[in-house]
Amino acid sequence: MAKDLKKTEQKVLDVYTRVNPSERPIEHDQELFQDMRRMREDLFFYKLHLPKKVFQDATLVSFGCGTGEYELFYALWGCREITTIDMNPISIKRLEGLFRNFEMDHALKKTYAQSYFDVDLGEEKFDFVVADGTVVHTEDPIGALDKFLGHLEEDGFTVISFAELSGMLQRNIQRLILYHLAGENEELLVDYSEQLFEEHITRSVKFGKRTRAQIIYDTYINPKIKTPTIQDVLGIFKKHSISFYSSYPSIAVPFFTSSFRVERSRLEDPSFHHMILLNQLAWMMAAEEDIEVSQDIFSQWRIGFPHFSRFLGHLYDISSNDDHIERFEAALVELAYLAEEDMSLPVQFFVNTRCKEFYQDLESLMTALKNKDLAELKKLTFHRLFKGTCGVGNMYIIGHKGQS
Ligand SMILES: C[S@@+](CC[C@H](N)C(=O)[O-])C[C@H]1O[C@@H](n2cnc3c(N)ncnc32)[C@H](O)[C@@H]1O
Repeated sequence: MAKDLKKTEQKVLDVYTRVNPSERPIEHDQELFQDMRRMREDLFFYKLHLPKKVFQDATLVSFGCGTGEYELFYALWGCREITTIDMNPISIKRLEGLFRNFEMDHALKKTYAQSYFDVDLGEEKFDFVVADGTVVHTEDPIGALDKFLGHLEEDGFTVISFAELSGMLQRNIQRLILYHLAGENEELLVDYSEQLFEEHITRSVKFGKRTRAQIIYDTYINPKIKTPTIQDVLGIFKKHSISFYSSYPSIAVPFFTSSFRVERSRLEDPSFHHMILLNQLAWMMAAEEDIEVSQDIFSQWRIGFPHFSRFLGHLYDISSNDDHIERFEAALVELAYLAEEDMSLPVQFFVNTRCKEFYQDLESLMTALKNKDLAELKKLTFHRLFKGTCGVGNMYIIGHKGQS
C-alpha cells in the first residue's frame, strides 16, 4: 500500500504540475472574486448551515488546500490561524502570494509543501479540519480522513468535500470509456473527451469557474479518482465520535418523524445507512436543476398541493367555541382528490422509471464498448446517461465533534 500511495502521489502531482486543478485568478478579476465569494457564502451559510460567526477567531487546517482561494475566504470570514498542506509546492507558493495580495498573511500560521500522509502535526488540534476535493486523488481516501480527523478539536467542525461514489458514477463511466478507447495516451484522452463529452465539459466550465483544460485534466487525465461512498465517510465519523451535522446535497430522510424529544437518529450508525438510498439514487441519475425537478418532474404536486392546502385550511384554528363539524365535509372533498390521485407518481418516475432508463443506457453502452469504436459510441443516444448535471460531481459533508 505504502509503495502504491507514493506512486499515485507522483502520478497525480505530475498532472497537477502541468495543469493546476484549482487556481482561479481572483486577485486580478474582481467579478470572479465576487462570484466565488457569493458561491462559498451560499454553500456554507445556507446549504451547510455554518454561519460566518463560527469562523470568528477559529483555528483551521486545510489538507490538500491547492492554491488557497477557499482558505482566503475562511480568513476573510475571521479565522485567526490557518495551517495549509499540499504536496504541490507551486500551489503553496501561489496560496502564500494570494494571502499577501489580500493582506491576510497575518492569518496564515504555517504552510507545508508536503504530502499530508508525511506531515506530522503532533497533538495539534483545530476548530476546523478541512479536506476539500482532495482525498479521492489518493490510494487511501479513508486512511487520509482517519489521520485528519484525529486533529479535530472538541466542539469543532470538519468540512469534507469529495466526489461521492453514486453522484460521481457517471463521471467514473466516462473515465472508463476513455481509458478503454485511448489507454493512457494523454493526447487521445483529451481529444476523445472533447468528442464524447463536449456538452458536459462546457457546462462544468460555466458552473465551476475553471478552464476547459482544468476540467479535462482534473476529471479525465487525473490518474486517480477513488471515490468513497457517503456511508464510508459516516463510518469514519463514527470511529472518531463525530456526529453528522449537515451536507450538500442533503441526506435528510423525509420519512423520519420521531418526536423532537427523542434523541436524533444518528446517520453515522450503520443501522441507518440504507435510509440514504433514495438520496444516492437521486444523485446517481441527477440531470436537472432544482427548478426543473420542481416545475416539470413534480408538476403533478403543483396541482395536488392547493387541494392539500385547502384540506388543512378547513381544519385550521379549532377554537373552544367551535362546533362546525361541517368543516369535515368540505375538508374531505379536498382530501378525496389526494386519496384518489396517485401522489407517488412523480416519486415513482424519479426512482423507478429513471432507474429502468439508466439500466437500458448502461446496457447499450456496454454492447457498444465491446466494439471499441469511437464513431459508434458517438452515435449512441441515451435516456438518462450524460445528461445535464451528469450526476453530482462533488458533495460537502460537515461533521461536528460534540459531547453528546
Ligand atoms: C482538486 S484539487 C483541490 C484543491 C482545493 N482544495 C480546492 O478545493 O480548490 C486537489 C488537491 O489535493 C492535493 N493533494 C492530492 N493528494 C495529496 C497528498 N497526498 N498530500 C497533499 N496534497 C495532496 C493536490 O496537490 C491538489 O492541490
